[in-house]
Amino acid sequence: MTQPPDDLTILALETSCDETAAAVVRGGRKMLANVVASQMDTHQRFGGIVPEIASRQHILSLAPVVEEALRAVPGGWAGVHAVAATYGPGLSGALLTGLNTAKAIAWQRGLPFVGVNHLEAHIYASWLDHDEGPTANDQRRTQTSGRPSSAALRRSSGPPEFPLVALVVSGGHTLLALLRAHGDYTLLGQTRDDAVGEAFDKVARILGLGYPGGPAIQRAAQGVTPAGTLPRAWLRESYDFSFSGIKTAVLHKVQERQELASRMPKAPAPEHKVPRGRAAGPQPAAAGAQPAPLDPVFVGQMAHAFQESVVDVLTAKAVDAAARHGASAILLAGGVAANTRLREELARRAPIPVHCPPLDLCTDNAAMVAAAAYYRFAAGVQSGWEIDVNPTLRLGA
Ligand code: KG4
Ligand code: ZN
Repeated sequence: MTQPPDDLTILALETSCDETAAAVVRGGRKMLANVVASQMDTHQRFGGIVPEIASRQHILSLAPVVEEALRAVPGGWAGVHAVAATYGPGLSGALLTGLNTAKAIAWQRGLPFVGVNHLEAHIYASWLDHDEGPTANDQRRTQTSGRPSSAALRRSSGPPEFPLVALVVSGGHTLLALLRAHGDYTLLGQTRDDAVGEAFDKVARILGLGYPGGPAIQRAAQGVTPAGTLPRAWLRESYDFSFSGIKTAVLHKVQERQELASRMPKAPAPEHKVPRGRAAGPQPAAAGAQPAPLDPVFVGQMAHAFQESVVDVLTAKAVDAAARHGASAILLAGGVAANTRLREELARRAPIPVHCPPLDLCTDNAAMVAAAAYYRFAAGVQSGWEIDVNPTLRLGA
């Protein structure tokens, strides 16, 4: 592997889903610019992502985000040495906009180009230089060592050291992978049905909490006094996951609750709206029926029980995989890594360091794409102009 120069500066684009992002990263770690134009508001009224709208919005946003990112580069375009873009997995139309823009920029400016796997990019968010806020690991160390808390609460993280176990948890993917070196991935397990972020989004819809579901569930679960638990799909002897059963368990509890409420005599209730989402899941009431509105205490308890169940399984499997493979650290990656309970619980249970990028680097961004691209260039990889989008690209492909 020829190490690219420390000052290799990469412009990267990310358009795999509903964020239009451009970033410029130097040496694989130093973010000069990290611009994200979120389409959240546009999709929120539909209760989920509408792929055609996402593509159209990327086309409108790409030029402004690239221009904004470039303004932060000393020397402007002259300071950019290479270009990268996500080519999969993701929505094909959305991927096309970023990939084609990046290829056009690279071709026109005579710069090397590399396509990046979105899942790999999420993992590489842990290589970006950033000041980490407090983690449960930090807090625990502070308590046991008696050091003043301020000493441990802000520190700059060093690069993770191999071998590593990565837990990638996003809206489209849930997987555990072993990394022995840069680019050397072994898939240990993955979801057999819904991705965990998808489960958060579907359960939020069932509970009438809106989109995106992850942050809404986290908010609803905060400070709730637990009342019962939900089942966990352990799939013993395997690092695979399953989240569709727990989603159905929540749906059944909601239906029972609504049936009970409908038998109680009371004043007419306002119409209960269930937002539609990107993957149409089961609805809490039969079409035409007038379901009773859910009581917020019940919603909080369901959100809490769901979050605890999911966090328990994800954490247990990641910690077990890390021990079995002698990992020196666990990397937590993907949009669901923004979940506070997951971050806390993983750091509390893992006997080794847990690298969690800051929240804005957990959700989709282009800085992570640039970081992954740096190590692709380091391995001598470059993409030809014939590279096309791959909506179902897998890790390690
Ligand atoms: O990685 P990401 O930004 O996009 C994909 O590649 O899918 O992940 C988006 C997912 C959504 O399902 C969203 O509900 C979830 O991440 N998410 C969360 C939280 N913040 C975002 N899930 C749980 N807790 C959160 N705080
Ligand atoms: Zn993502």
